[in-house]
Parts: sequence; C-alpha cells; structure tokens
Amino acid sequence: MQASTLTALKELALHCARSAGELSLARMKQPFTVEYKTSASDLVTAVDKEVEKHVVETILRHFPDHGILGEESTFAGDPRQFDTLWVIDPIDGTTNFVHQQINFSVSIAVYHKGEGLVGVVYDPSRDEMFYATKGEGAYLNDQPLRLERQVKLEEALLCTSVFWNKRAEQIGIDLIVKKLAGKVRGMRLLGSAALEMAYVAAGRLDGYVSLSLNAWDFGAGRIIVEEAGGRVTTMTGSPLPFDRKSSVMACNPAFYEELQHYLNLTENDMADNGAT
Ligand code: IPD
Ligand code: CA
Ligand code: CA
Repeated sequence: MQASTLTALKELALHCARSAGELSLARMKQPFTVEYKTSASDLVTAVDKEVEKHVVETILRHFPDHGILGEESTFAGDPRQFDTLWVIDPIDGTTNFVHQQINFSVSIAVYHKGEGLVGVVYDPSRDEMFYATKGEGAYLNDQPLRLERQVKLEEALLCTSVFWNKRAEQIGIDLIVKKLAGKVRGMRLLGSAALEMAYVAAGRLDGYVSLSLNAWDFGAGRIIVEEAGGRVTTMTGSPLPFDRKSSVMACNPAFYEELQHYLNLTENDMADNGAT
C-alpha cells in the first residue's frame, strides 16, 4: 500500500473518531433512549446507532468500495469479501456512557487483507486521542508512546472484564482474578476494553486480559499496543483474529510469559466456560 493511501486512511480514521466522540458528548447532555440488547447488562442507546451511522456514511463517502464491521451493523456483508475493512465500535463502554457519563471511547481500526494498518481510540470526555499506524509507532495526542520500562509482574497493574455467561457466572473472577490475586499489584475494571488497551499502550496500565471480546472491542487497541511495543495475543497465546470474537491478552512484553504461566488456560478451559 502506498504511503499516501496509508496517510489518507489515518487522517480519515482520526477525523471520524473525533467527530463521533463530539457527537456522543453532545447527545449525552440530552435525553436519549436506552434499550436492552440481550439482557439488562447489555445495553444499546439511540446514540450508539446514530454515531455509527454517521461514521459509516463518512467512510463510504470517501471509500465506497471498503467494507465495514461495526457493532451496530448499519452495513451488511461478509467482512472477508473486502480487501480493506473498517472495524468500528461507535461507543465502547455504553454502560459507562449511560451511568457514569465518562470512561467510554470511540474505536476505529482499518485492516487490509487481515493486517492492521490504523488504530484509533478516542476518549471524548478527556479529549485524549490514542492512535497508531502500522510501522509508524503509537501516539497519544501527538506524543509518542513507547513501552520501554521493564515491569515485573508483581509491580503490574492489570485490567480485565468480567461478564455473565449463560449460567450467569462471572467467569472472569475464577479464570482470571482469583489466579492473579497476590501475583500482580492490582486489578481494575474500567468498562471500556478499547480504552483499557489504549491505557496499556500509554503505560497507565501494564496489561489487559479478557476471556471474550468482539472484533470491534479490540480491533484498534491491538494495533496501538503493538505499535507501542506491547505484546497482544489470545489468552492461550495464539495470534488475534481481526473479524470475529476472541479472548485477548495485551501487555508489557516484560512479563508476558509469566502472566501466561499463572493464567494457565487451555482451549478446553475456554470452551468449558463459554469463553472464546
Ligand atoms: C463492552 C466493553 C466492556 C467489555 C465488554 C464489551 P460495549 O463494549 O468493552 O469493557 O467488558 O465485553 O462488550 O458493549 O460497551 O461496546
Ligand atoms: Ca464494545
Ligand atoms: Ca459499543
């Protein structure tokens, strides 16, 4: 891909993320409808849908032949039929958007034939833009991000997400939190996977682990962490997919192996507990 095309994709992703974030903030100040998707723990608002529609229309105006994989699916089609695919979460952290009115983000990634080219995570409440372009490093508001500090596992602050599987168990508690108790400095749950991965790239958190995320939750964060020098795989150590659900482990490379050792998860553990 030509350097000028890559720059154009990055500029458009940044523009879309900023305008999407500004739209979310403006709409948050007025009443909006909230619906349950699958349960009372799985929300979608009218703002999620409006913001995704706005982003998709903007992208397709510039690149009508590109594909879109978005959480609110305003664009249909098999993601693999497109060479260039935009992976979008208009509001990552909808529950935070509704309750806390902070700690949510816009996540936009561009993949070409399965390779991550551009990742952007924008936190409109704090006006923080995290982004990366393949081979060109990661940035926070134009400041380069580089994970150079050698962090020991006992010094690491990690983030995770727990979720309710079909049997209504918080499987992250048993398979992640209990195993890491006493091994790491602390665990946090911020409620926006994209933002948590961006914070790993920025060194505010040292690692993020989740048993199951959708492609739009980790699509951008993964590129930003990798470009900052972090390591990102599934929780069992395989490469992450770009177009489907997966477990995710993103961390400072200094303790990656040790963390895998303590989590000690097999594909069977994952399947038995409804993780991906
Ligand atoms: C959710 C957030 C949350 C994670 C969930 C996601 P949403 O995304 O990223 O941190 O734990 O698994 O579904 O629904 O707010 O876009
Ligand atoms: Ca999400
Ligand atoms: Ca979302």
